[in-house]
Amino acid sequence: MKNGLEDVIAAETQLSDVDGAAGRLIIRGVSLDNLVYNGTFESVAALLLDRLVECPVDRDQLKTLLGAARKDLFAYVANVDPAIIALPPVDALRAMIAQLPDGEDFDAALRLMAATAVFLPAILRLQANKIPVAPDETLSQSADILRMHSDRMPSPDQVAALDAYLVTISDHGLNASTFASRVIASTRAGLTSSVVAAISALKGPLHGGAPGPVLDMFDAIGSAENAERWIINALDGGERLMGFGHRVYRVRDPRADALKQALRRLTASGEVDRHRIDLAEAIEGAALAILKQRKPHRPLDVNVEFYTALLLDALGFPREAFTGVFAIGRTVGWIAHAREQALNGRLIRPRSVYIGPLPQAA
Ligand code: ACO
Repeated sequence: MKNGLEDVIAAETQLSDVDGAAGRLIIRGVSLDNLVYNGTFESVAALLLDRLVECPVDRDQLKTLLGAARKDLFAYVANVDPAIIALPPVDALRAMIAQLPDGEDFDAALRLMAATAVFLPAILRLQANKIPVAPDETLSQSADILRMHSDRMPSPDQVAALDAYLVTISDHGLNASTFASRVIASTRAGLTSSVVAAISALKGPLHGGAPGPVLDMFDAIGSAENAERWIINALDGGERLMGFGHRVYRVRDPRADALKQALRRLTASGEVDRHRIDLAEAIEGAALAILKQRKPHRPLDVNVEFYTALLLDALGFPREAFTGVFAIGRTVGWIAHAREQALNGRLIRPRSVYIGPLPQAA
């Protein structure tokens, strides 16, 4: 048995390759660096879904279809149960997604991608006692998410920063939530069921639930001079440093640098306080030195969640919503994997070793 299925190969995929030794991520033959500088949500979605659903490969066509789908899905917002809005944002998102019909085709995929984008901003506004903002179907997915959340037209730099984030986190090998999506798909349950299961896996603090706590850490540390003392205390108390470590990467997570670049561009345009990046760099430096000393047997470096926290904060999302924003970007990866599994895979059904008591002899 391999605890945590570490290094177990459970699927063949053409979608993404995570090279943990080299710190490299490839999505459908394109390296993350290239994808993130030229890409938008629509372009990476078209790339990931190509030939897995009858997907228009043209990103402009996808933009139009997503806009229309967002507009249709806004009807769900008007009828949302107040008990759902009382839940934490990612739980509310999961509950709203669970209301959508299951399906395997392009319409089902489109509906799920559009639904995450419409539902999360609406949930956040309702939780803040504000009226939800209706989608603008002429906008790109990223521009509309920002507008539906803030009720202001975002700047081109803000849209580019959210696109960089959504592209960066669109797919990442057989992580826990993607595996959950594939397990459900292997039973032929449908794409909504896969996405609901994947959101459930994503929300845990060891996976997509980390960036909120990363921001809590930044706030608790407060200044560069406090970093070392705070980190030592946290580790002495048996805590893990959120935003550090990864099951596959033994070097720096390349997504961390892609997001750091996006944050720098936002800073250059005057939309982020430069001191936030300075503090992040000081915390990163102190943490890496201390982790190296404390865990010499296990290379631990920065992961995607570290700079996610700063980027989503700079874009105006509250920290409780970070995991939900992650779900907006990762939904397309979950759908692509679910389709790949349904088309090429078998029922996923591993075995366990029984270590419990045996029946008493009569
Ligand atoms: N801080 C301190 N120590 C750590 C950390 C950390 N962030 N991560 C791992 N370690 C230590 C463990 O304590 C353990 O030490 P030991 O061998 O002395 O007991 C050793 O490194 C190995 O830890 P595992 O739990 O076996 O590593 P695993 O591969 O299961 O964990 C994980 C990967 C869950 C990401 C882990 O590094 C972690 O908890 N990180 C913090 C949470 C986080 O940032 N999650 C986001 C991940 S990225 C994503 O999912 C989108």
